[in-house]
Amino acid sequence: MIKAARRAARGLNRDFGEVENLQVSMKGAGDFVSRADIKAEQVIRDVLMEARPAYGWLGEESAAAEAEDGMHRWLVDPLDGTTNFLHGLPHWAVSIALERKGEIISAVVFDPVKDEMFTAEKGQGAWMNDRRLRVSGRRDMIEMIFGTGVPFADSKHLPKSLREFSLLLPRCAGVRRWGAASLDLAYVAAGRLDGFWERGIQPWDVAAGSLLVREAGGLIGALDGPGDPVNDGRIIAANAEVFERLGEILAEA
Ligand code: IPD
Ligand code: CA
Repeated sequence: MIKAARRAARGLNRDFGEVENLQVSMKGAGDFVSRADIKAEQVIRDVLMEARPAYGWLGEESAAAEAEDGMHRWLVDPLDGTTNFLHGLPHWAVSIALERKGEIISAVVFDPVKDEMFTAEKGQGAWMNDRRLRVSGRRDMIEMIFGTGVPFADSKHLPKSLREFSLLLPRCAGVRRWGAASLDLAYVAAGRLDGFWERGIQPWDVAAGSLLVREAGGLIGALDGPGDPVNDGRIIAANAEVFERLGEILAEA
């Protein structure tokens, strides 16, 4: 997985350097896809499928495939933070997760611009390069910074999102919208952010990051009641101190 992420990142880095020459097409409101994105997914797919041909596939840019072994599946976002990438903002990542029988067991989120390789294996902890990760130990919400994904264009989630901001902002040290959900979760795992939430998100955006958070001692859940945080498209992640409180405030919205 690390090899695949590094190989894809080489091409993405090159393309990032000449971002203005990329051919860009619209894939839906506010959601751009570039040639770089598609190329990167192909590179990752080649590396992973060569190593494990019987595993299934769910990626943002190419056709899904059922697992021939009936058990394993890759969940891949070759370029998370596409809008940042296209604007020359140096905050985007390659995200790769491995699922076994519906459970994420291994994760890689790679930020090539900052050379930060976030990795986790179930039961083995979470790491950034060679440093072990731990979620933040902050207890007072007023000192906390949260990450989120704000809906763009005509998203039906916009009004709720604005209500969430008005409830949360007076109670914390700030909310960031950095534009790459996989890195938001990696930052929760690293204790840089104290929590994160988003609605309308895809499994490949959050599969790897969710394991990073868990393995760093954080909590992951579905927003707005019970559910599957990776597959239901509504995720909340935080350190154990604030997880419940954050959920309550967001529920008020
Ligand atoms: C997006 C980013 C963004 C999040 C969106 C995702 P993309 O992924 O992770 O932070 O708010 O929900 O779709 O389109 O850049 O791969
Ligand atoms: Ca994404």
